[in-house]
Amino acid sequence: MSEKPASASPPPEARTPELVPRPSSLAPRPSRRSFLRWSVVAWLIFCAWLLAAGYALVRFMFPRVLYEPDPRFVAGKRSDYPEVNKVYENFKQTQAVWLVRLIEDGQDRLVAISAVCTHLGCPANWLEAEQRFKCPCHGSGFYRNGVNFEGPAPRPLDRHCIFLDAAGNIVVDKSRTFRKDLGQCNARESYLAMS
Ligand code: FES
Repeated sequence: MSEKPASASPPPEARTPELVPRPSSLAPRPSRRSFLRWSVVAWLIFCAWLLAAGYALVRFMFPRVLYEPDPRFVAGKRSDYPEVNKVYENFKQTQAVWLVRLIEDGQDRLVAISAVCTHLGCPANWLEAEQRFKCPCHGSGFYRNGVNFEGPAPRPLDRHCIFLDAAGNIVVDKSRTFRKDLGQCNARESYLAMS
């Protein structure tokens, strides 16, 4: 009687661990701490998105607008300019404008002369002792009426619109200018008649 051949399959304890089916109850489950961590991350992402969306909405509702200062200012009353042939410097620092009372074309006028040099835009100065405007940058000189007479400035100083409002206040509007070299200084609102 021949012996029975040994079985081909190894005993269960000899199998490699990978081949042993793992019961589902033993599968790794996410821990409570890991779940909380991922919840916090998700909330942070959601909040960041919410902030970005809110910012975009605000920018849409309030677009970037450049608010420029009002080009007009009130320069007092006629009685604040009592002297003829005088340069008033009250608004030189704040508005870069001189109020000049002068006789022009036989008429007593108040004019608003720009302090910006017509050469390259430097602020000019009034020299009381020399009775002239002088630009410190390249030496241009201007008479009291703003007409250039020396230096590289190509034309007289500009004049701004000047008028009386309903309450009798003198208003200067820097958004409107008049040029003496173009014959614009007899135009309405290029000067204020003082008598
Ligand atoms: Fe005034 Fe040049 S900017 S003279």
